[in-house]
Amino acid sequence: MKLLEEKIRQDGTAVNEHILKVDSFINHQVDPALMQEMGREIADHFRNRGITKVATIESSGISPALMTALSLEVPMVILKKQPSKILNQDLYQTVVTSFTKETNYELTLSKKYITSEDHVLLVDDFLANGEAATAAIRLIRMSHATIAGLGVLIEKSFQPGHEKLKGQGIEVYALARIGKMGENYIEFWE
Ligand code: G4P
Repeated sequence: MKLLEEKIRQDGTAVNEHILKVDSFINHQVDPALMQEMGREIADHFRNRGITKVATIESSGISPALMTALSLEVPMVILKKQPSKILNQDLYQTVVTSFTKETNYELTLSKKYITSEDHVLLVDDFLANGEAATAAIRLIRMSHATIAGLGVLIEKSFQPGHEKLKGQGIEVYALARIGKMGENYIEFWE
């Protein structure tokens, strides 16, 4: 998506070869008009596939997921993070290891909001190692719902997330794919 690539070039910062800062329009401050365009673009890609829910991981996934859900006219469901294991029969739970943040956390989904009747589109801001998305897919599969795919704003294609998800039979659609980056340059893949 040219609009997002231009915005990343203009307002994003490659902190080093691994981390892209997009705090001014995605992660800390949010550009609502751009977010709505991006949500519509993801929705258009997956439209007419019988999607009943859009699911995301808190917190930065919420803006793109909400805009995608709005465009698809379906509810958005938030998978919530808990610092440690809690006992709760109303939740599906799984552990996620974040390589970027070097932490473990528990990802949870209320049994009420995704059921075997649902066909779910997962949406997130970044795809890096794919650990969070893989855990989200585990939770959705626990509910016996089916998965339409994963839509992300930015994929860091030099990290293994895309391949990992493809290997699990998940279609990945990314609005911007970064092949390589460093202090003063960002290379996008078509
Ligand atoms: P993974 O989910 O793909 O395996 O990635 P990883 O564990 O490495 O990433 C952990 C967190 O860091 C995720 O956010 C992910 O979105 C974010 N992240 C990964 N690479 C980048 C990057 O280059 N730039 C930015 N800005 N974020 C990145 P999170 O912990 O779920 O945090 P949040 O959603 O609350 O913001």
